[in-house]
Amino acid sequence: MDWAHARQSTCGLAHARAFALIALVFGLAAGAMAAEAQGLAPLQNESLRRVRDDLLPRYGAWGLGGVVVLLAVFFLLRGRVAIELGWAGLTLRRFGRFERAAHWLLALSFVVLALTGLNVLYGRQVLLPLVGAEAWAEISSWAAWLHVRAGFGFMGGLALIVLPWLRHALPSWRDIVWLAKGGGLLVRGSLAPAWKFNAGQKVLFWLVLVGGLAVSLTGVALLSPFRTALMSKVFAGVNALGVVVGLAPGLPVNLTPSQEMEHSVVWHGIIGLGLIGVVIGHIYMRTLGLQGAFRAMASGEVDVNWARQHHSLWADRQLEEAESEAPPRATLAE
Ligand code: HEM
Repeated sequence: MDWAHARQSTCGLAHARAFALIALVFGLAAGAMAAEAQGLAPLQNESLRRVRDDLLPRYGAWGLGGVVVLLAVFFLLRGRVAIELGWAGLTLRRFGRFERAAHWLLALSFVVLALTGLNVLYGRQVLLPLVGAEAWAEISSWAAWLHVRAGFGFMGGLALIVLPWLRHALPSWRDIVWLAKGGGLLVRGSLAPAWKFNAGQKVLFWLVLVGGLAVSLTGVALLSPFRTALMSKVFAGVNALGVVVGLAPGLPVNLTPSQEMEHSVVWHGIIGLGLIGVVIGHIYMRTLGLQGAFRAMASGEVDVNWARQHHSLWADRQLEEAESEAPPRATLAE
């Protein structure tokens, strides 16, 4: 490595450390923020009202702050997970155009949903003092408009990623080994074999799919007020499942239309916040956390040494297939 490169990467690391420290402070501040009721229409059910107006914003802030703090601590202790053998300069095709387009539709619409959703929960405390009442009212009305539109993009993205990725997200015994080794991420030099998706990615896929479906269905229920019996059906299903596993959750199944709405609004918020926490972790891992990971979703190509380190089984098979099909080239097609 020449002097200029060495200096550049030292600066990069210093910036990243400063960023991690800021994230740490931000996370703690978010957690410590006292969340108060946002002046939304009051809910009739007292327990649901307490969840929406007090517990959800309070523990949501602690939860999201906690995720940011954990990631910052992980970064400060472990640093960026580097490609241990360095760049090979030879790439493997990881995702085609369709997969990347579907992913970015899902990702961008989710970011819009998250920001506009967070405005409902925390905007009064965070944004209003910064921009003033009039601007905040304007922003909030645009945010509400955008939230509904982005919801349709998100549902589209969700449907599209299922098609190519479901088969890679099915469980296998390799996942247990991967998890036992902490994905090879905790200790330098440790490797955890994986096919195209490792156990961590599979967990993310199912959380996004199931959580995404739940947040979408409750969202649609809120868009067609008093016309769905979604929550009664879900609760009946959970009760039936509870009997099978020897539990009796006893959730209410004959909800009135307004009770339906109240449960939908509360569950929409809980699941939405949970997904935001999960996605923050995902974005960290795919940008700052793992060297060489982002390009999988940018160009669709990943470095061979990156692939061997994080997805050795998949990489070896891709290389074998490519070798048997064609003479070596700079880029090997999937
Ligand atoms: C906005 C910033 C985001 C970035 C930079 C990003 C980046 C990436 C990258 C690089 C991959 C490919 C990983 C691989 O090589 O296997 C990926 C996969 C994936 N992304 Fe994202 N993503 C973002 C947001 C999201 C959001 C918001 C969601 C869902 C709501 C999402 C869901 C997924 C899923 C399910 C996968 C496949 C499983 C996995 O690789 O973890 N992504 N993302």
